[in-house]
Amino acid sequence: MSDIDAAWAALETAAAAARERRIDGLFAAEPDRLDRLTLAAAGLEIDLSKQPWSRADEATMLDLARAAGVEAARKRLFAGEVVNASEGRPALHMALRAPDGADWRAAGEPVSREVEATRAAMRAFADAVRSGAKRGCTGKPFRAIVHIGIGGSDLGPRLIWEALRPLAPQIELRFAANVDPAELALALTGLDPAETLVVTVSKTFTTLETLTNAETARAWLRATLGTASDSHLVAVSAAPDKAGAFGVPADQVFGFRDWVGGRYSIWSAVGLSCAVALGYEAFARLLAGAAAMDEHFRTAPLAANAPVLLALAHVFNRNGLGRPIRAVVPYAQRLRLFAAFLQQLEMESNGKRVTATGQPVAHATAASVFGDAGTNGQHAFFQLLHQGTDIIPVDIVAVREGSEGDPAAQTKLLANAIAQAEALMVGRPPAETPDAQRAFPGNRPSSFLLLDRLDPERLGALIALYEHKTFVEGVLWGINSFDQWGVELGKTLAVRVLGELEGGPAGVHDPSTTALIARLKR
Ligand code: F6P
Repeated sequence: MSDIDAAWAALETAAAAARERRIDGLFAAEPDRLDRLTLAAAGLEIDLSKQPWSRADEATMLDLARAAGVEAARKRLFAGEVVNASEGRPALHMALRAPDGADWRAAGEPVSREVEATRAAMRAFADAVRSGAKRGCTGKPFRAIVHIGIGGSDLGPRLIWEALRPLAPQIELRFAANVDPAELALALTGLDPAETLVVTVSKTFTTLETLTNAETARAWLRATLGTASDSHLVAVSAAPDKAGAFGVPADQVFGFRDWVGGRYSIWSAVGLSCAVALGYEAFARLLAGAAAMDEHFRTAPLAANAPVLLALAHVFNRNGLGRPIRAVVPYAQRLRLFAAFLQQLEMESNGKRVTATGQPVAHATAASVFGDAGTNGQHAFFQLLHQGTDIIPVDIVAVREGSEGDPAAQTKLLANAIAQAEALMVGRPPAETPDAQRAFPGNRPSSFLLLDRLDPERLGALIALYEHKTFVEGVLWGINSFDQWGVELGKTLAVRVLGELEGGPAGVHDPSTTALIARLKR
């Protein structure tokens, strides 16, 4: 048996034993458990002691990481080797957040000077807009940005704005991702075109939703201000020529390279809207927090490496214990979009059924991720988490000091985060209640991630933690975490169906699809 097969077999044996015992029982058996499984990394504290693994199981998982070649894969990633084989690209988002003066290479090509030049251009643009040096075509200063983009060109900026936005921002930032015209209509409502920048973000600059919304927003500007308002157009793209052809002034097109994956792109010029609306300083601090996590991931030994251990805990649940769903519950309203962000990061990266070389995978891959802010989720899906027939591991994220508001309410929020993790693990045994309806089996795992404050550095570190965790899982499963071929078929079919809805010739479809097209034809 190969090392890797033996390591997977050992996981199965370990998990069979884990199924038969209680997590809370492990604290007595392992006096060092809490210390051993509480990690500090880049300003985050991560408690993995409520996961179902014993000390021996953790060692088994570390053996699996070694057998799968996590250390060598990490080296290749940081060296800028072509880790995204199906698209022939490195994945070098770490280069975007490295301090000035670094020397990152993408497949051998130096990239750091270009990264620094883009950051300098972003800073200059953000400063000019915020100071009023750059104004709209009527001379008014900009008071709003409409950020148009979808998927990786939307979820990161939206998360960061929600997490860090001031209560009364100098510049309001709104988003439109969906091709549903309602979203852009809502985003534009109440804005003065003379004071509004439209920032279109698309790596490819071919995405149907984004181009549709960008055209509508351009028409909205021109309807009031004429073509002079094209100076309100800004674009961020890895295809700058296409952005130029759309009418965006050349000095307002910000580029990034194809070695930045869409869902890893918030660190690039994709973050421009946030850099303008929050001020460049906040964006630089976000980068610094992520860079600190990069350094931790790159240098910490596997056994003390936060992204590695978080990945191993998740894989122990996913593969060992056969748990295909994970919940993510940030006890911070400002992080309510974190689960949506992780859905793309984890499910687009690792929702794969063949290996990087095209063979069927030997093990189940990404878990489905869902979640919402705590305490809201407690009044929605926590019933199932506590008493449902499936065991769904939970990642809880909590923030010690709230950003604003009543400190007593913040304490209540933290009490709920702690209590839910306790209730999930300890439960309430039937002996304590004669009523089966009121019994809680417990033994349900959670991770507890604690941030002292929700500041840009910690937010950057939190996102980078999950990026690297996702990468490690991909290595364990032998898949390419950086492509996304599974999104293509639906896009192609939508174009075909659109032609038919608009009156084009009927195509060949299954009977259900044909009926829907007939019913919704314009
Ligand atoms: O959903 C597929 C996808 O390609 C994502 O990977 C990407 O983040 C999103 O579409 C948007 O793509 P683009 O930035 O090229 O418009």
